[in-house]
Amino acid sequence: MHYREYAKQILEGASLDDKLLSSKAIVLTESLDLYDLPTNPGRVKKLEFNNEQVKFPRSASFHLEEKRGLALHFFANHELLAIEMMAAALLLYPDTTKEMLTFKKGLIKTIQDEQKHLKMYIARMKEFGIELGDFPLNDFFWRSMDKLKTPSHFYSAMAMTFESANLDFAQFYEEGFRAVEDFKTAEIMRIVLEDEISHVALGAHWLNQWRGDKDLWNYYKTHLPGVMTPARAKGIHFDKEIRLKAGLDHEFIRELDEFRDEFKVTNRKNW
Ligand SMILES: [Fe+2]
Ligand SMILES: [Fe+2]
Repeated sequence: MHYREYAKQILEGASLDDKLLSSKAIVLTESLDLYDLPTNPGRVKKLEFNNEQVKFPRSASFHLEEKRGLALHFFANHELLAIEMMAAALLLYPDTTKEMLTFKKGLIKTIQDEQKHLKMYIARMKEFGIELGDFPLNDFFWRSMDKLKTPSHFYSAMAMTFESANLDFAQFYEEGFRAVEDFKTAEIMRIVLEDEISHVALGAHWLNQWRGDKDLWNYYKTHLPGVMTPARAKGIHFDKEIRLKAGLDHEFIRELDEFRDEFKVTNRKNW
């Protein structure tokens, strides 16, 4: 299967099986086809976007299975959106250079990881009696997709902001689950964190390739769409070490740590 067919099935296909499509035997050859981003990804009724507000459960309620299940439902939503947005990136950015195929190869590998995460969350939620779509699935990340005009914009938002915040959140919730002796769910968070480090590293690698003589922080900031703030790249406790591990430089980490704005990251308690 050509990579564009694969990406289209993931993005436009409506079922969970479509979203979890295997990338085995993918043909990665150049294509200059243009692609119009759909308003929404394909979604069966149960998985359709719904922006009804549901509060993220407090860690203090994690002794209750249903609250842990609800937390996993939020995480599963992010995985699903990441899969669809990465598929959209495969389709949107033209293969004008050989470098783009290498960029896309990395995206396909990342989609595999996100599919693995989604499956782990779904399996664990099932043990708590919850299915994907039992709670509203918001479109927050997806709404930025049509503003990500180039791969630089894409990785600034996806890897350096959404996935970067997850470096903090995954650890925070791993501890939260461990605190109520749910070691099985804690282990899922640990695996997700390991992979997330490599996803942020991949984004940083590409931005470093593309930034020329601009420093990473300024390059990143100028490629974030206006609606997005670097404050979104941080979780509850800002972990510098893990960002070094993901290949971000000291200067970037310092700027991000010191960054303050209207988003009130200090008041941010969860995803
Ligand atoms: Fe993930
Ligand atoms: Fe990721």
